[in-house]
Amino acid sequence: MKQGIGIIDSGVGGLTVTKEVLRQLPREDILYFGDTARCPYGPRPYDEVREFSIQMIDFLLQHKIKALVIGCNTATAVVLQEISEKLEIPVIGVIEPGARTAIKETKSGKVAVIGTEGTIKSGMYQKALKKLSPKVEVVSLACPALVPFVEGGHLHDPEGLAIVQEALEPLRGHTFDTLILGCTHYPLISHFIQQVVGPEVTLISSAEEAARELSAVLSYRRMLANGGEIINTKHRFFASGNKQLFISIAEEWLGIKVEAEQIDLESALE
Ligand code: DGL
Repeated sequence: MKQGIGIIDSGVGGLTVTKEVLRQLPREDILYFGDTARCPYGPRPYDEVREFSIQMIDFLLQHKIKALVIGCNTATAVVLQEISEKLEIPVIGVIEPGARTAIKETKSGKVAVIGTEGTIKSGMYQKALKKLSPKVEVVSLACPALVPFVEGGHLHDPEGLAIVQEALEPLRGHTFDTLILGCTHYPLISHFIQQVVGPEVTLISSAEEAARELSAVLSYRRMLANGGEIINTKHRFFASGNKQLFISIAEEWLGIKVEAEQIDLESALE
């Protein structure tokens, strides 16, 4: 039986990674879990993020995935190392791919990172960037107001501009030519973010590079789906919260018809 690629996130953020995986690997089946009922993860303690992430992963493993993408920076910061050591299937996070892309893009060597409180507190971007380029200057900022706005689903509501403006205010006065969207929810509102930081700043999403890493690992391990001329895929989307809201955001973002199943993780894992 064809096995799919598991992608997890606290909510709809991992759809930004999913879109890239669909684009780069159109023959693969996706199994997506968004823990929308318990989103946001950003302000939650480490242990809770770990517990919830492992529940989503266990659920997807029950559905026999052949690779896992932790499509959430907050969860990547907390569980990537543990899970990659534990599972035999390839496991890809989103922090290193984002850092790699930023280092490739920056000309001034001055990079800003925005993310959830959990991601920024973990210092993982700072570490990954410095490891790749020790001289890089990094300014980091937690933006807790952005994820709830994205999960609300009104991605083009003009109110979003004021929310982004206020959230990014502490970056004023800092110079940088590259801004890492260190939360997978943020590319969904990159139109507002770009407007606030100005056209000369390059926005970096981890999605493209994370999908490229996934593709390289699957190819190296001879695990890519091959389907001749016909692309025959079956994607499954699971959400722990409101199914309709999830579907409407997913359809708008991915541009495909989405059917979602609402899952109560605690009872699904009993
Ligand atoms: N999309 C997630 C991230 O990349 C988590 C957002 C949240 O739940 O706070 O960090």
